[in-house]
Amino acid sequence: MDSPVVTMTRNGAIAVVTIDRPPVNALSADVRRGLLDAFGALASDPSVAGAVLACAGRTFVAGAEISEFGTAAFSEADPNDVHAAIENLNIPVVCALHGTTLGGGMELALACHYRVATPTAKLGLPEVTLGLLPGGGGTQRLPRLIGAADALDMMLSGAPVSAQTALEKDLIDVIVEGNLLEAAQRFVGELVATRAPLRLASELEVDRASVSPTLFAESRASLAKKARGAIAPARIVDCVVAAVTTPFAEGLKYERDLFVECMNSPQSAALRHAFFAEREAGKIPGIAKDLSLRSIGKVGIVGAGTMGGGIAMNFLNAGIPVVLLEVRPDALERGLGIIRKNYEATASKGRMTLEQVEQRMALCSGTLEYAELGGCDLVIEAVFENMDIKKAVMARLGEVCKPGAIIATNTSTLDVDVLAAASGRAADVVGMHFFSPANVMRLLEVVRGRDTAPEVLASVMALARTIRKVAVVSGVCFGFIGNRMLEPYLRECEFLLLEGATPTQIDRAIETFGMAMGPCRMIDMAGVDVAAKVVLERRKEGALPADPSYRVACQMLFELGRHGQKSGAGYYRYEGRTPVHDAEVDRIMEGLARQYGIARRSDISDEEIVERCLYPLINEGAMILEEGIAYRAGDIDIVWLNGYGFPALKGGPMHAANVIGLEQIVACLDRYADKRGNTFGYWSVAALLGDLATAEREFGGA
Ligand code: NAI
Repeated sequence: MDSPVVTMTRNGAIAVVTIDRPPVNALSADVRRGLLDAFGALASDPSVAGAVLACAGRTFVAGAEISEFGTAAFSEADPNDVHAAIENLNIPVVCALHGTTLGGGMELALACHYRVATPTAKLGLPEVTLGLLPGGGGTQRLPRLIGAADALDMMLSGAPVSAQTALEKDLIDVIVEGNLLEAAQRFVGELVATRAPLRLASELEVDRASVSPTLFAESRASLAKKARGAIAPARIVDCVVAAVTTPFAEGLKYERDLFVECMNSPQSAALRHAFFAEREAGKIPGIAKDLSLRSIGKVGIVGAGTMGGGIAMNFLNAGIPVVLLEVRPDALERGLGIIRKNYEATASKGRMTLEQVEQRMALCSGTLEYAELGGCDLVIEAVFENMDIKKAVMARLGEVCKPGAIIATNTSTLDVDVLAAASGRAADVVGMHFFSPANVMRLLEVVRGRDTAPEVLASVMALARTIRKVAVVSGVCFGFIGNRMLEPYLRECEFLLLEGATPTQIDRAIETFGMAMGPCRMIDMAGVDVAAKVVLERRKEGALPADPSYRVACQMLFELGRHGQKSGAGYYRYEGRTPVHDAEVDRIMEGLARQYGIARRSDISDEEIVERCLYPLINEGAMILEEGIAYRAGDIDIVWLNGYGFPALKGGPMHAANVIGLEQIVACLDRYADKRGNTFGYWSVAALLGDLATAEREFGGA
């Protein structure tokens, strides 16, 4: 009867069914088959009085086997049959929970008659994060067990709850200290001895007190605001309505239909793509798995400004001591003060204790002396974006850092190879491009220099996981992956302004597509001055197209002192933080159009805005792949999803391109080349994009 992944043992009249499928006991078809066999056998064994369902290893079932999605295995051994086989036994079944009980694992637990858990156990239904809903009875059993309001909260957030919260909500029956398996067997023994009733979640009624008259209307209204067209959350609400209003069996069928709808939706495909791409991004091709990594126990940061302070907080949060170096005492004091203020603000919101603030600050010291960086395993420079200053800093670091220390630069636009050479020890140098605010944004571009040692790259990727960043490796080029692709996007945005579109129209079109923020609002927030200085610098270097009208819009705004939100005006005028249309900007753009001989038109559609801003960005992504700057299309998607507010429901620009169809993108680029001329190569199709389109293949495809 035993399968390799599900075994059954006996302890007197108590049967113990154990799932053992490392690493996380994911609910694969073979596990489901094993469970059907095991509980099927129990149904016909009169010598068994009670059963425990448990998992070996570090956790109870932590979810479905996602790699089986879309394969034949997925539809084998229906989870609902497994749940019915457990629930319909006439002996008590107790589920023993430890680690993280998630998704399909949680549904399995809900089908058992009772649940016991360790104090550190966590339970959740995170399906919504993959554009799905719990499709194995979770939407029907959970509201019956804990009430509609709490069930909605859990399923819509996707966040797991602690054992303590689960106990308070009656999601579990008891928290047990000590040996879980022994305690679960004792628990079931008592149920048998006291002839306790079998508690079938499917036979409970949803507690009416948990269903306020406005509950569902409020949930839907809040989703309309927050979830921006996401299907899965809306369907979860529909399922909970069914749990309240229809018999269990009917609700289960309804849930299955809606699950299939979600599963087949492009939204879920995009979210699952991103999930896998994020896991993939951590892998560095060609680097041996057993490479020994450099351990990083102490970090130095040069420059305690906006980025330096934010970067420091990442390490302090992970318990890694930081030394901050500044040029002047006042700058140092200011930098340290901002870090403290940030922590205190978090504490005042109740998200951290004052004791934790002090613990973190105790790990952080400041210095004006380079010698103090000698003991650091990693030093990151985050000084002004100026080649001469940075080269001098790198040279100093090359001298003072101990042998084996990693030296990193946070530059956004400078050549990492030049900086690496300045250090005199290029193999130790890597780029660590954090995004602002660095303590909040998840993305980290790890820039692999020409001479970066493999173990340096691998060590920094591992460190990124420790500080909970999503790290993507980029080669050396202007702007790395993200900002390089931003360039053609902003170029077209500015041309559209000259041709007669307004910032409001552009931002609305791009935000309707799903971007968190349109380009004009984005530059206003980041600083028109910052954007303009990059353009000016590149012009000086001769790195820009010979087009005199290239990105003149942002340079003109900069010259006029319109630096964005911080100066009260940029692409918009600001009332507080609210952007307001400014007729003055229209006049500025009209003037520039006249000066550069660009015809104004009144027929710019939202479709044109989206195509002109996004397709060149995708085309640039193709060049980045072609040149080997990014390892994979999925890496590019991860950059845009985590650093630039690309809509998660579209899976990133390269995934979105696959969905639109590469042929269609090529045809569209060609159309714009015809219509607008292609003197400066703006519409030239990347070779890789052209080839894939011709071969009817996709980015990232086999
Ligand atoms: P910032 O002006 O806020 O901070 C720079 C700090 O470096 C100042 O506190 C300054 O006193 C200090 N500094 C200057 N020269 C120094 C030296 N020789 N030795 C020690 N300290 C020195 O600048 P921010 O915005 O923090 O930028 C720093 C770096 O981060 C730049 O390379 C920038 O390109 C990069 N970056 C900035 C992002 C942003 O959004 N602000 C995003 C990603 C990267």
